[in-house]
Amino acid sequence: MNPLLSRLHPYPFERWRELTQDIVPPANLTPISLGIGEPKHATPRFIEEALVKAFPGLSSYPTTLGEAGLREAIRGWVHRRYGVSLDATTQVLPVTGSREALFAFAQTVIDPTRAGATVVCPNPMYQIYEGAAILAGAQIAFVPSVPARQFAADWAAVDDATWARTQLLYVCSPGNPTGAVMPLSEWQELFELSERHGFVIASDECYSEIYFRDEPPLGSLQAAQKLGRHDFKNLVAFTSLSKRSNVPGLRSGFVAGDRALLKAFLLYRTYHGSAMSPMVQRASAAAWADEAHVVANREIYRTKFAQLMPVLSKALDVSLPDAAFYLWAAVPGHNDEVADEVAYARGLLAQYNVNVLPGRLLAREVHGHNPGTGRIRMALVAPAAECLEAAHRIVSYTESLS
Ligand SMILES: Cc1ncc(COP(=O)(O)O)c(C=O)c1O
Repeated sequence: MNPLLSRLHPYPFERWRELTQDIVPPANLTPISLGIGEPKHATPRFIEEALVKAFPGLSSYPTTLGEAGLREAIRGWVHRRYGVSLDATTQVLPVTGSREALFAFAQTVIDPTRAGATVVCPNPMYQIYEGAAILAGAQIAFVPSVPARQFAADWAAVDDATWARTQLLYVCSPGNPTGAVMPLSEWQELFELSERHGFVIASDECYSEIYFRDEPPLGSLQAAQKLGRHDFKNLVAFTSLSKRSNVPGLRSGFVAGDRALLKAFLLYRTYHGSAMSPMVQRASAAAWADEAHVVANREIYRTKFAQLMPVLSKALDVSLPDAAFYLWAAVPGHNDEVADEVAYARGLLAQYNVNVLPGRLLAREVHGHNPGTGRIRMALVAPAAECLEAAHRIVSYTESLS
């Protein structure tokens, strides 16, 4: 067996199941899950129809590069959304969801034969980054986050010796679980570090289309272009249809950026066998070409968050994120450094049948401190009425604790 497999951590939901297996929630309250970040809004009909219409596509093998029609639809979307002009043949590649691509990319980029091969990850983070680094044979360095700045990463806290060993940096903007969007100044800092130390940046942008401010989140390619980095050297952006178009089951996204990296990634993917089904390609092309459903979907989240914020803020220290569909709330007592959000979340499940995710399960302890401690993540993916009912239960529960 590959010995690296034993170094993988159990997934946060698995750990949470273990930590709650003794709990019998009250049967008179319907269960409400704010735990898993799976989109629950309806898939647009036209995407389903495009998928069905493409049935004849089943009779042929797809290429890993993807059909020209899909790559052109992606190129068009990137241009409309970010004002960035890409070459659809060399700077765009379809992927079967951003998860597999984020994972596979580390297997392509990392050279484990170089001493101290390191992957830098945010903390808290999407756990796939960590697993990808482990299975690529790299060490992981977690960037400290700053609670006062929406848990933004403190890049300056990473020492030069670590950057010198770094081969790959994962960035998540808008962030999971914080919803924070990285500003241009932070991108500039990262591009300069990447230039100085030669590492690759994988920018996870799967939440880019769900946002609460007027201005859409800055994309990494857009940031590079604004800073005059037109070749996107050492930069690849990962974008997904799952959240944008409510199609998590379609498994569709794309990567875009540095030509040389995408050429190597295409080679890796050809052997890995991750070509996208022709049906999925046609449905995806239709989804990227339409923006009306994305605007409508964003509006549903905006209304939902606007309804919930005044209710939840009565009980929890919580603020509207820049983007994504999570609330990263502090539980009572979080300033005391002894806040036990696991106990809080267990109590909430046991007494009110509401599932949330304890923050420490989404982060790693570094120098004796886990930055997720005292926080819970709530995914507001269920219908508004269900989320509102959960919010009222959370308020009752929290008030009962004081
Ligand atoms: C931060 C982040 N990146 C990537 C993904 C993967 O999304 P998908 O594989 O559906 O594109 C998720 C899914 O929840 C996520 O939270």
